[in-house]
Amino acid sequence: MEELIIQSRFRLYKNKTELSAEAQQLFEKAREVLKKAHAPYSRFKVGAAVALQNGDIICGNNQENAAYPSGLCAERVALFYAAAQYPDQKIKSILVIAESEKGDLNCRVSPCGACRQSIAEYEQKQGSGIEIIFMHDAEAFLSCQSIKDLLPLGFDSDSLENKK
Ligand code: THU
Repeated sequence: MEELIIQSRFRLYKNKTELSAEAQQLFEKAREVLKKAHAPYSRFKVGAAVALQNGDIICGNNQENAAYPSGLCAERVALFYAAAQYPDQKIKSILVIAESEKGDLNCRVSPCGACRQSIAEYEQKQGSGIEIIFMHDAEAFLSCQSIKDLLPLGFDSDSLENKK
């Protein structure tokens, strides 16, 4: 038996002024779109902003449904719109933030498992990493350069093709 150790690398930003100018722009866009989330059941509003290679920024928010599983996370609303409208544009980065109507959030909000899987799909499609930036607490942010940091040993089309 052998033990395999997999490392992930994150950058910690103490507050949003430490973020790059582009990430700060994503933050502002995500904050705007978060307000328009349809989240009457969780009252947990999420905003996501995606930066494309051509400079466009695509936004999404969570869309809930009375039949709960029919809803969709902010990240996938933004990613799917970006992929549908700009299939040939590489996705550079995605930033995600959240607000709760139940009180001020002071916790990490990182993409859920299903969103990680979707980000992995687009990384593989475009052949390059997608920077992921998310809340670490009320002030700070974490970022990583690829979904591999958040979803190691993921399942992708290589698995379907019996490739390593
Ligand atoms: N949600 C997101 O939109 N993104 C995340 O990263 C975490 C969770 C949404 C789904 C649901 O509408 C609400 O937040 C509570 O789970």
